Amino acid sequence: MKIGNLNHVAIAVPDLGAARDLYRDQFGAEVSEFVPMPEQGVTTVFVTLGNTKIELLEALGEKSPIANFIERNPNGGIHHVCYEVDNIMDARDQLKADGARILGDGEPRVGAHGKKILFLHPKDFYGTLIELEEV
Ligand code: CO
Repeated sequence: MKIGNLNHVAIAVPDLGAARDLYRDQFGAEVSEFVPMPEQGVTTVFVTLGNTKIELLEALGEKSPIANFIERNPNGGIHHVCYEVDNIMDARDQLKADGARILGDGEPRVGAHGKKILFLHPKDFYGTLIELEEV
């Protein structure tokens, strides 16, 4: 496989409204409305940059993975990075063959942008949670 562009960097925040205001008002960035994604346990604000995106993530609901992250990192922090790939099944099969662990059931699901995504285990990638998105 060969990774493509950086699609986005996701930052978990304790207060999405404050984070959205900061990116809009202090950085002058283009920010989206609040996008709730209950099945993923997050509310997202998309920040559009010239060459990539930032996704601001806030916990939504009881079993949100972001809630645990904020418990460990109360001020927020970088949650994951997302790289683009041409063919997510080929990428997955090769990474698995190389011994990398895929999170969940190992099958791609449809992410926030309507594209197929997978998450790779951070312990196999220098402590970084990596999302792959098929483009
Ligand atoms: Co993401």
